[in-house]
Amino acid sequence: MATITVLNGPNLNLLGLREPAIYGSATLADVERLCREEAAQHGLEIDFRQSNHEGVLVDWIQEAGRAMAAGECIGVVMNPAAYTHTSVALHDAIKGASVKLIEVHISNVHAREPFRHHSYISPAAAGIVVGLGIEGYAVAIHALARAHKKN
Ligand code: DQA
Repeated sequence: MATITVLNGPNLNLLGLREPAIYGSATLADVERLCREEAAQHGLEIDFRQSNHEGVLVDWIQEAGRAMAAGECIGVVMNPAAYTHTSVALHDAIKGASVKLIEVHISNVHAREPFRHHSYISPAAAGIVVGLGIEGYAVAIHALARAHKKN
């Protein structure tokens, strides 16, 4: 069964506890469940991961690139969290590994502090989902699944 890799960056392990007025009360386990439910509707599996470490996320993007090349993975949904605004390494990994990636943010980063308005990920991403809460993950999975079916 084809897979979508879902990657989560730093502090997203604290979802549910972390600034609930901004990020809501759902936990990362709730996000994982939502992703698996959406993927199952399209006959797809989810490889769901979270790390607080930039290099680990780089390794996982490269791994997803290899899985895409082998026809095992149809794309990546990633919430890079704070690394969105700082990481040239993640940008380079997405491009270097030729990964089809949809960038997701739970909050509307454009309505928040100016330092959240710039993304190093967006120029390397196939699409962006911002400000839809955790539903944004399901929207991104839906989009990847439909694009895959059309090809
Ligand atoms: C976030 C937005 C980022 O600015 C922030 O650093 C996060 C979460 C979001 O999902 O809204 O950690 O990516």
